[in-house]
Amino acid sequence: MAREPAKTLRDHFAYRFGEAPPAHDPSGDDGTLSYLARRRTHRKYSERPVPPALIETLAAAALCAPTKSDLQQRDIVIVRNPSLRDGIDALFPEDKWIAAAPAFLVFCGNNRRQRQLHEWRRRPFANDHLDAFFNAAVDAAIVLGTFIIAAERAGLGCCAISAVRDHASRISDLLGLPDHVFPVAGLTLGWPAGEGTVALRLPLAVTVHEDRFSEAGLRRRIDAYDLRRADLQPYARQRHTEEYGTTTPYGWSEDKARQYSKPQRADFGAFVRSKGFRLD
Ligand SMILES: Cc1cc2nc3c(=O)[nH]c(=O)nc-3n(C[C@H](O)[C@H](O)[C@H](O)COP(=O)(O)O)c2cc1C
Repeated sequence: MAREPAKTLRDHFAYRFGEAPPAHDPSGDDGTLSYLARRRTHRKYSERPVPPALIETLAAAALCAPTKSDLQQRDIVIVRNPSLRDGIDALFPEDKWIAAAPAFLVFCGNNRRQRQLHEWRRRPFANDHLDAFFNAAVDAAIVLGTFIIAAERAGLGCCAISAVRDHASRISDLLGLPDHVFPVAGLTLGWPAGEGTVALRLPLAVTVHEDRFSEAGLRRRIDAYDLRRADLQPYARQRHTEEYGTTTPYGWSEDKARQYSKPQRADFGAFVRSKGFRLD
């Protein structure tokens, strides 16, 4: 029987975005680009534990990521204590797969160390404004993304959990986070049980701009993306049908508009302020 030809990087991008970038060099790919083109979040894991030393190694790799001004304003909390883990899992009664994940971590922004340096070095901290929070949040997000890539390349599966911010105060108490340290996202980690799904992305013409930001053809392209998703990856269920009914086709834009038609984490700003940030 004839073998199916192996998929190229162009094929993977074409599936992901509905179009491949016009210029690319698959021959120069050492596997990184192909992996990124096919990567996916995993929410189902086997029971096989993840060795603690592997998690620490991945944390070390992730913390090699670039960091704004070398400030290093991000930390990782590896949740090991079973009763602490139970306390975190209990916050997500609807998402039982979180409790089933062999490992859980929390990625935090940390602007506290910087402030400590000012105290120790007796220098004024002259940047107590929004950027102090924003830089730490961005650094934490970069480390989160890098950890995910490192873990997936090691054969693990993960899912970032921004839902920890639905319970920011509680998570902060459970982890003993002091002032100016805040959770950005949790992460479930384990050996994948199953293939997972490559999630389709918006067309590159929508999200990659040349020279100047452009929304040319935006509505038309999103309509087409909606149809492509409804066709290839239909949503298992529609959100808030009691209020909005069901629509056909039900695409990405309808799902996201329904999702954000309900308030979510409206208290997060108050939490961040309670951690000592000014946000002006
Ligand atoms: C910062 C961040 C937070 C996320 N939070 C959650 C979450 O709370 N729950 C969840 O099920 N997935 C969460 N995800 C996973 C996204 O839903 C997922 O990345 C997205 O659907 C695209 O799928 P893919 O990663 O397989 O391409 C999060 C992802 C990121 C990057």
